[in-house]
Amino acid sequence: MAERNLDFDSVIDRRNTDCLKYDFAKQYGLPEDVLPFWVADMDFKASSYIEDALVARARHGVFGYSDCGAHYFEAVRGWLKRHHNWEPQEAWLVKTPGIVFALAMAVKAYTQQGDGVLIQSPVYYPFSEVITDNGRRVVSSNLYLGEDNRYHMDFADFEQKIVDEQIKLCFLCNPHNPVGRVWTKEELTTFGDICVKHNVLVVSDEIHHDFIWSGTHTVFAGIKKEYEAISITCTSPSKTFNIAGMQISNIFIPDNALRRRFRHELGAAGTSQLSVMGLVSCEAAYRDGEEWYQAMCAYVKENLAFARQYVAQNLAGVTMIEPEGTYLIWLDFRGSLYHASFVPGPEFNALVKSWYLDGLDSEDFIMGDVYFDEDSQSYVVGASGVLKGANGAVRGVAAADVYLDSISHIVSNIQIEDTGGIFLVDTRTDTIIGHKDAAVVGKKLSEQTGQGAKPSGNPHCAGRFKSGNPLQIKGRAGRACAQF
Ligand SMILES: Cc1ncc(COP(=O)(O)O)c(C=O)c1O
Repeated sequence: MAERNLDFDSVIDRRNTDCLKYDFAKQYGLPEDVLPFWVADMDFKASSYIEDALVARARHGVFGYSDCGAHYFEAVRGWLKRHHNWEPQEAWLVKTPGIVFALAMAVKAYTQQGDGVLIQSPVYYPFSEVITDNGRRVVSSNLYLGEDNRYHMDFADFEQKIVDEQIKLCFLCNPHNPVGRVWTKEELTTFGDICVKHNVLVVSDEIHHDFIWSGTHTVFAGIKKEYEAISITCTSPSKTFNIAGMQISNIFIPDNALRRRFRHELGAAGTSQLSVMGLVSCEAAYRDGEEWYQAMCAYVKENLAFARQYVAQNLAGVTMIEPEGTYLIWLDFRGSLYHASFVPGPEFNALVKSWYLDGLDSEDFIMGDVYFDEDSQSYVVGASGVLKGANGAVRGVAAADVYLDSISHIVSNIQIEDTGGIFLVDTRTDTIIGHKDAAVVGKKLSEQTGQGAKPSGNPHCAGRFKSGNPLQIKGRAGRACAQF
């Protein structure tokens, strides 16, 4: 039977399907037509092979506890071998309901309360959440943006932080969301050698490994035997095949003792078998989904070209960080007309509070542009923009260097012409609770703090008090990134 679901042009209405992206906007007090870029799933139909396998299983009609047979692992192994030239053993496999869950289990299995866990910001925001939510400390060795407009690891800082903070565990995002790097073998080897030298375990989140636009994905654990011994490799068909709702991921832990400890945490969390439909869809995807996957990649690649061209032609001063991998793009708005940023301090917080937040605690909200002061978790949202493609399809880019949870709500409310606004988001309800023109904000701040906003030459832009470092994300700063 041939693949049927290759029409990626059709806009499928996902509303009223309990879809996280669309159906819950209203509940959060957001407009119906919100463009929810913060959710990294695609709006394409999955492969018809997955559809058919699920329907066939559903027709059987009995949905008792299930596990998977050798045919499941054969499908997983085949995919990893064909696409990533990696051949894990079946004994290494531990299945979990999602990768974020696996990250949390790793934190619990391999560290103690109060320990530092190393990440490389900016990175997918649950990395820090699972650390802090489990009573551990986030230690970040920030990536830096090089002259080549690509992000890089700061190895000296990375090693120093390992030593200073007595790090036992670090999270690697490979390829990296949101900066789109496909780490090279050389980079991963430098990274890995440092980890081996200091006995640091590596959780390598490789969920985006099937979206590679330039370079080659390298499985961290596959580089050397020594890396195998310290690694927990997280893979999943969820991004590749757009089946995130199936909650299935395949975690490979070659070392017996590490795997035992991980499994123990799964048991302690009360998990055992997974959803039967997750298993069925994963197997069908990896076994039969090749044609769909290839066509989908070609389509996403076109979307990427569209976004690149749109940014170049329409967004003066916005720099697109070219994604080598992932289906997310990361835009630098700092040089644009749409950018206004401030480093908030106590006066700033008081001022913002007086505008919007009577009765609320500043810790209840977080705002972006990711310029922040060290002690506060409150931020101003810089301006953002939304691009809509032909037929109203969500073929857009969301603004960022704003990197926070609520990006979808922000972008939904602004059109390009309308940028220059400052938004305040209550992250408890994920709603915009205020909107001011950036120029007005800048003027007020200037008067109140005496710091003197520098005019930027843009009538909308209020100018900066101080240039922050967008990489120093902390607190709940989270995902932004557009899906395209
Ligand atoms: C790097 C990364 N890891 C994990 C996830 C989510 O994984 P899961 O849904 O399996 O928990 C995402 C989703 O965007 C991601 O970008």
